[in-house]
Amino acid sequence: MAVLITGGAGYVGIHTAVALLEAGKDVVVVDDFSNSSPDSIKGAEKITGRKITVFKADVADREALEKVFAGNSIDAVVHCAGFKAVGESCAEPVKYYRNNLDTTLTLLETMKKFGVTRAVFSSSATVYGGSDKMPLDETMPTGCTNPYGWTKFMIEQIFRDAAAADKSLSVMLLRYFNPVGAHESGLIGEDPRGIPNNLMPYIALVAAGELPRLNVFGGDYPTKDGTGVRDYIHIMDLAAGHLAAVGYTEKHTGCEAVNLGTGRPYSVLEMVDAYSRASGREIPYVITDRRPGDVAECYADPSKAAKLLNWKADRGLDEMCRDSWKWICGKK
Ligand code: WQD
Repeated sequence: MAVLITGGAGYVGIHTAVALLEAGKDVVVVDDFSNSSPDSIKGAEKITGRKITVFKADVADREALEKVFAGNSIDAVVHCAGFKAVGESCAEPVKYYRNNLDTTLTLLETMKKFGVTRAVFSSSATVYGGSDKMPLDETMPTGCTNPYGWTKFMIEQIFRDAAAADKSLSVMLLRYFNPVGAHESGLIGEDPRGIPNNLMPYIALVAAGELPRLNVFGGDYPTKDGTGVRDYIHIMDLAAGHLAAVGYTEKHTGCEAVNLGTGRPYSVLEMVDAYSRASGREIPYVITDRRPGDVAECYADPSKAAKLLNWKADRGLDEMCRDSWKWICGKK
């Protein structure tokens, strides 16, 4: 029996594949490689010494997806495939709704056709919208501030309604906070195309001398040092959360939303200091205007994941920065 990871060559997908393989599961990946590389598959196979069955395809391509299910004994799906750039989603909302919803609807129809009832969905803390009550727990109101976030919100609702109609379904909606870092081997990691939007990959390129300085988006927030505060979680802790969620779907039916965060908030300047220590490099920065749409603080109450999944994030900020830097140095 195998676990299918849609978008499995991407940042979260490939680290989740390593965790599943190391737990003895077989892994099948479907990825169109529009925002990922086959190199990540090779890296995961090298880390684990195990093979991954790979299909290059668009998850929305029903014929291709049915071939994957027909040719492999799938017992659970981890659904990571989807566009994920907040800014791009504001510029091209219809492209985001078409892609992220089509892939999900085709996946659910194909799962039904082949009798697959277990799914873990790559959701996001972005569904909590602009809530200013911290920490965030799963009972708090949801609502989004950009089309990317609304696709995650809508896909959660699609899975919730599907599970309400079909009592055999078991779905976990994993709300990621800020995944960062890389596998400790340095063989796989985050590989954004072009200039990174997110903080750690941007700082990494400043440390590597590929970018001149970091622009700190806002220094006047009501936070410990005036800069934005987020819940950064090591990608391998996030991967372990997916493994626990796959296990949970084996023993339970229904649909549950769960935060995957550390509950330990850090500011932009704390991240700059930590990365400078981990890399031994100066990280020049300048405080600029706030980025539209940003909130001052966003961090998790991770207690539901601890209770339901017996999972918590173990790795700290220094380890996140160390493993990111090792990956960046290995790529040069
Ligand atoms: C973090 C902090 C910025 C870049 C986004 C998505 C979210 C999720 C994670 C997918 C903020 C500051 C950043 C820079 C900066 N993705 N910053 N200079 O915005 O919390 O979340 O990525 O699920 O959905 O919204 O992450 O890394 O972009 O920003 O000062 O060059 O770093 O203002 O305070 P964010 P981020």
